[in-house]
Amino acid sequence: MERSLVILKPDAVQRGLVGTILTRLEQRGLKIVGLKLMQIDEQLARKHYAEHEGKGFFNDLVSYITSGPVVVLVIAGDNVIEMIRNTVGATNPAKAAPGTIRADYAVSIGRNLIHASDSPASGERETANFFQDAELLQNFNRTVDPWIFE
Ligand code: RTP
Ligand code: MG
Repeated sequence: MERSLVILKPDAVQRGLVGTILTRLEQRGLKIVGLKLMQIDEQLARKHYAEHEGKGFFNDLVSYITSGPVVVLVIAGDNVIEMIRNTVGATNPAKAAPGTIRADYAVSIGRNLIHASDSPASGERETANFFQDAELLQNFNRTVDPWIFE
């Protein structure tokens, strides 16, 4: 069972795309086990994006992700890391495949609407950065699951 941390970035909130993007993830059948609205401070932004420290775009990235409220969620399930990355699309929306979230709603790499963990290890690390265990409801039952999972 993998966990992916997804962030609907400040542009998604400002543009009123939270519902639209959540719907695409939710209607696929993915199971949301944690969800909140928050504003990321600089310290958390630097920790979350630590792998990019020192790169030319790092300061702009920290400014962007801290520039307004975000919606943060955790999705749990088998293969969710790869499935969600595929649904999100390439980092640069201009090069993302049609039908992906970034291709359908964004045009700039620095305003690409959504973050999703890129490996199971990142999913665990990032989830711990944003949520206490008690905030996650990992074991609730969805009666619809037999219609989604064979
Ligand atoms: P994310 O972490 O936000 O889900 O995006 P990602 O995995 O697709 O891309 P990543 O390489 O982790 O980059 C993190 C974010 O930094 C911005 N970026 N700008 N100007 C640039 O060359 C550049 N490269 C990356 C993007 O906002 C990207 O989502
Ligand atoms: Mg990334």
